[in-house]
Amino acid sequence: MTAVGNNATPPAPAIAPGAHDRDPRAIAERLVERFGATGTDPRLAAIVPGFDGPFFQAGLAGYSEAPMRLIARRHGCPVCVTEALLDRTLLAGGRGFAKADLGDIADNVPGAADDHPLIGQIMGSDPAEMAAAAVKMVEQGRRGERAYRDEAYHGENPDWFRERKNGYVPPEDAPDPPPTRTFASIDVNLACPVKKIAKKARGGHWLAEPDGAIAILAAVRDALPADVPITVKMRRSFDDTAEMQENFLRIFDAAYDLGCAWVCVHGRTVEQKYVGPSKWDPIRDLVERRPDVPVLGSGDVWTAADIFRMIDYTGVSAVSVARGCIGNPWIFREARDLLAGREPSPPTLAEQRAVLEAHFELMLADNERRMRGRTAQEKHERAEGLTGRMMRKFGVRFAAHHPEPDAVKRAFTKVETLDGWREVLAEHYPVGMPS
Ligand SMILES: Cc1cc2nc3c(=O)[nH]c(=O)nc-3n(C[C@H](O)[C@H](O)[C@H](O)COP(=O)(O)O)c2cc1C
Repeated sequence: MTAVGNNATPPAPAIAPGAHDRDPRAIAERLVERFGATGTDPRLAAIVPGFDGPFFQAGLAGYSEAPMRLIARRHGCPVCVTEALLDRTLLAGGRGFAKADLGDIADNVPGAADDHPLIGQIMGSDPAEMAAAAVKMVEQGRRGERAYRDEAYHGENPDWFRERKNGYVPPEDAPDPPPTRTFASIDVNLACPVKKIAKKARGGHWLAEPDGAIAILAAVRDALPADVPITVKMRRSFDDTAEMQENFLRIFDAAYDLGCAWVCVHGRTVEQKYVGPSKWDPIRDLVERRPDVPVLGSGDVWTAADIFRMIDYTGVSAVSVARGCIGNPWIFREARDLLAGREPSPPTLAEQRAVLEAHFELMLADNERRMRGRTAQEKHERAEGLTGRMMRKFGVRFAAHHPEPDAVKRAFTKVETLDGWREVLAEHYPVGMPS
């Protein structure tokens, strides 16, 4: 997703009077009393097996590719969402659209055996195309298992697919291949504020055209097998007019009536893009409106405490962590700590360094795998340069945890290579430095 002021709101609390005085520890304790050790509404695991924490990593175009997802999962994130994939991108097999303003296919398939459960998000302008794209996405998820995974990452049995591909037949006592799985659900994006393309609505713009939005949900539901759940991401309204709020409610109710498993509501309007605070009251009203089904929430979740405060204030079943986890996978560990009754601990410099190193390496492996070039060396060099540039935006966010964030940010913005990245780590995150 390109320039739409995505990061326009600096970390600031949502509009939710009194919520920020609530004690996250006490809220976590109540969740555990109510739901058991996971603290999670059991309806979620019935929809997406493995959904065992009341939070997940949002779709974040330009960020939430496999490397970021894997790092999040290693820190306790139970479920991740891909970037929004345009229906056209999927239908064209990714060709011609790789540089579209949304994610491309290779970034949005399971990145490894442990990149599950993964929710695949689609977005588009036409019900029939969205339905076809949803089917393609489910297929692509399966293909992802075979074609992409474990070439770059450490999975349960990293060599399995490579060996199979080369005609190798594993011995009888070889471990079973990992099960072929696909996306845990297909998520329809009715939230993205990026402007219309060729006068056609897509994403959040559908909130101004409820008949079209409902037609998309119906077509996608019809096209997919019943055992693939459909979920929906929506803004709380197109704008603050009564007419648009009515439109929102029509779509929201229709989603559940059509069999969508949950709606995740971002407490900003489409018109608002990412500017100004999110409002949690409208989300609370929706939970009250539909206590019979799970409602999920998004918007201004910057800390682990915010996760619990949003749950307590609104009653949502789970919270989407978006900008709050860019450069901060520890938010998931802190949330797990709170659920376990432990004091959450900020990351030590050694932990920061280990994650920064792993993130670069995962991204480099991912880029190398897809890079075209005449020789392995040429591919590696190109991938390294690309990775260096791609990692800068992450480094800048990770720097916030460092005692000298400005100096570290400056250093990350100049990185070109893995060695350059390692030099920044050696200088600013030296082994043995007190944390
Ligand atoms: C850079 C960026 C990219 C995003 N891409 C997506 C996306 O592809 N799919 C989606 O559902 N939401 C996307 N979002 C919206 C977030 O998932 C989330 O709803 C929003 O940022 C509000 O939460 P926050 O205020 O806690 O960041 C994106 C947000 C940002 C900042």
